[in-house]
Amino acid sequence: MKELVIGGVKASELTAQYGTPLYVYDQQKLEANLEAYTTYFKSDVFQTRILYASKAFQTIGMLDLIAEYGLGVDVVSSGELYTALKSTMPVEKIYFHGNNKTTEELRMALETGVKHMVVDNVMELEELAGLAAEYKEKLQVQIRLNVGIEAHTHEYIVTTHIDSKFGIAFGSSDYEACIAILKKSDYLALEGFHVHIGSQIFEMDAWYAAIDKMLGYLQTFSEPLTLNLGGGFGVRYTDADQPMPIKENMAQIVTYLEDKLQETGVKIREVMIEPGRSLVAEAGTTLYEIGYQKKTPNKQYYFVDGGMGDNIRPSLYQADYSCDVANNMTAEKSELVTVAGKYCESGDVLIHDVYLPPVKKGDILAVYSTGAYGYAMSSNYNRNATPAVVFVKDGESRVIVKRQTLADLIRNDVKTEADKHA
Ligand code: LLP
Repeated sequence: MKELVIGGVKASELTAQYGTPLYVYDQQKLEANLEAYTTYFKSDVFQTRILYASKAFQTIGMLDLIAEYGLGVDVVSSGELYTALKSTMPVEKIYFHGNNKTTEELRMALETGVKHMVVDNVMELEELAGLAAEYKEKLQVQIRLNVGIEAHTHEYIVTTHIDSKFGIAFGSSDYEACIAILKKSDYLALEGFHVHIGSQIFEMDAWYAAIDKMLGYLQTFSEPLTLNLGGGFGVRYTDADQPMPIKENMAQIVTYLEDKLQETGVKIREVMIEPGRSLVAEAGTTLYEIGYQKKTPNKQYYFVDGGMGDNIRPSLYQADYSCDVANNMTAEKSELVTVAGKYCESGDVLIHDVYLPPVKKGDILAVYSTGAYGYAMSSNYNRNATPAVVFVKDGESRVIVKRQTLADLIRNDVKTEADKHA
């Protein structure tokens, strides 16, 4: 019976040691992705910088690895900032995003020495200008622009998303107000412009269309500015997804930009990208224990000991995943089944209509490509504990995040007066 091996360790050994459900990352895959980005997103014509969009999977261990490869990090909350500050990531490489940063979050950024802010709207910039003056801190500001392009997995729409909650339109009155605030401020400097048109993008046409628009805007400035192009590169969840390898994708983007810069004469300070999903998704696998089975008139269910609490994406986005019975990889996949979780919701289905072999209670199910927006979007719904996260490499595994305990689940619960006296 052939077994799934991740990073040189058998799935059954991992589940025996750490329990289930378990988020497992193949560290070598993470490193190969980091290597591909850092090697191929490079140019002789312009400076490049890669930020990891840490919302995809943010833990201290992951950020330590990111820092090792010299990337910066994009954070979107005080929680993400706090985690980054506790990792080995240098504070100068932290870029603070978000459309509604609270005053406390802006203060925290200023107090902890964050230098780069990606600003979403006029009110934010106004408040930031006041706070920067109060703290006498100089900040580099990128303005998030809405270029009127929204990318979906296999299509993109131009000029239909002017009402997006993110960013402002170049040349609009909000934009002019932002430029005026920056001109007046002794502490804020315009570093450049940011755009992010969507996630899980396969058709790069949308991305290139956004580049063209951004270059058009930059052309109106005499000084070279930073062009931050965001993330969004697609990954493989099932055979239906055919992403371009990172290497080719980056090489093509760099060539496109080099040609465009030559053609237009636009001068650039730095070009930045912010990959999240494409760095981590395919390196992650979730291991579950299979419990009971049930046949209904039209379906056969395999139940697993996790579900929407550790992976909300199928119920939230109808996202598809592929899977295997990890301790029995060679058996014939003769059963058409639905893999459902243990949560008290009908929508708690991880995978619809997938062929798997017959199973018994205690078998291990591996769901692939769960490394992005899985742990990151996990919840304690039904008071299920968040699984542990382990990194595996060269036959060695190490815990990156410990499994929550039952005591963790009630840690912040306040006992009633009656209980206190009991
Ligand atoms: N930069 C900005 C400003 C972003 O908003 C995002 C993602 C990224 C970079 C990284 O995008 P990526 O390379 O990961 O596609 N929860 C959803 C995805 C939400 C993405 C939000 N922004 C999901 O699970 O599909």
